[in-house]
Amino acid sequence: MSNASSHGKLVGQNNLRSQRLVFQSIQRLSIETPVNLHSSCSDPNGLCQPINQAVAPEQALATQNRKADHLRVCLEEDVQSCRSTGLERYRFTHCCLPELDRHDINITTQFLGKTLGAPLLISSMTGGTELARLINYRLAAVAQRYGLAMGVGSQRVAIENPEVVSTFAVRAIAPDILLFANLGAVQLNYRYGVKECLQIVEWLAADALVLHLNPLQECVQTHGDTNFKGLLAKIEQLCQALPVPVIAKEVGNGISARMAQRLIEAGVAAIDVAGAGGTSWAKVESERAHDPLQRRLGQTFANWGISTADCITSIRSIAPTIPLIASGGLRNGLEAAKALALGANLAGLALPFLQAAAESELALEQLVEALIAEISTVLFCTGSATLSDLRQPGVLGVGG
Ligand SMILES: Cc1cc2nc3c(=O)[nH]c(=O)nc-3n(C[C@H](O)[C@H](O)[C@H](O)COP(=O)(O)O)c2cc1C
Repeated sequence: MSNASSHGKLVGQNNLRSQRLVFQSIQRLSIETPVNLHSSCSDPNGLCQPINQAVAPEQALATQNRKADHLRVCLEEDVQSCRSTGLERYRFTHCCLPELDRHDINITTQFLGKTLGAPLLISSMTGGTELARLINYRLAAVAQRYGLAMGVGSQRVAIENPEVVSTFAVRAIAPDILLFANLGAVQLNYRYGVKECLQIVEWLAADALVLHLNPLQECVQTHGDTNFKGLLAKIEQLCQALPVPVIAKEVGNGISARMAQRLIEAGVAAIDVAGAGGTSWAKVESERAHDPLQRRLGQTFANWGISTADCITSIRSIAPTIPLIASGGLRNGLEAAKALALGANLAGLALPFLQAAAESELALEQLVEALIAEISTVLFCTGSATLSDLRQPGVLGVGG
């Protein structure tokens, strides 16, 4: 039995509760349910304290509709970048005599002070609608079962309309996981600050706050928020003010070594590269746009960005110890293992988890089991007993 599986057994009791909650939410689910901003709060924990009543109901509704669109487009359209992650350039050196028992392979790891059953992150995705609630609850149940880290999608929608806070509230389902709150960094230039960040962390009982950086997405999004001036100083202030670590993350266009350096100097505790080679947010926003100019812009920039592999290697060369998450286009455990061998501490996947979660909790479990089996097989067939052995010189090389 792998370590991840035994961890799953340990949290078995919580799983029963998780399954009940997911089942209840499935019963409630109606994808077509119109958003009602005036209905009473459905949050059983009474978390729905309005903190931003200045937001017009139309704006709150627009944000909610955008979140629904993102799920629909990602599930129904081809949103994959045509760029590669760059990981195909690397090959593991096969070890014909590992001198290991595969069952002893240990893929547990530590990240930001918590122990994970596997070095996997369910990347930040959703919240704010009934479908998002179902997906978040399923993701959380499986994250708890296997000891994975998980991020929720941008909580701006909940700041604008606290009635949807409960669509993010996964802590009751996943009491032990490493859990990340999420907000677009650019929102620090558009009315939100430390108070709102504290609030979304508290609502979620999160271990850290992910600030996503998405300049290209905002350009392609109709009426996107494109004033990124002075943001680094605000990120620095936020890092000082928040009681939890701040993680800087892209959304699929990558973070360069130079930008990583500046973010680290500003005080971020970790970086998620979210490099090019996976879900293309230029494509997603292009699909949503009605304006031909915005549609064309998204198509032109569909493959923009720094590949995931290049982000990892270049950031590792200037910041050998910063906790680093590799994401953007990872589609199986072999690719995740390459990212880990290049120096990442965790491997994050978004679209594959979304597709499985939309299908069923069983499909999610099967995906996690496959990822764990693939990572464990890489360790075994390279003679690596632990994840740190994977990073030893000669284990991963360039070319065939
Ligand atoms: C449906 C969906 C919604 C997303 N929403 C967010 C978000 O709110 N905040 C964020 O930081 N990233 C968001 N992302 C981006 C992912 O976290 C990830 O960085 C990106 O999709 C690349 O990973 P992938 O190629 O595995 O999909 C979203 C991704 C998907 C598929």
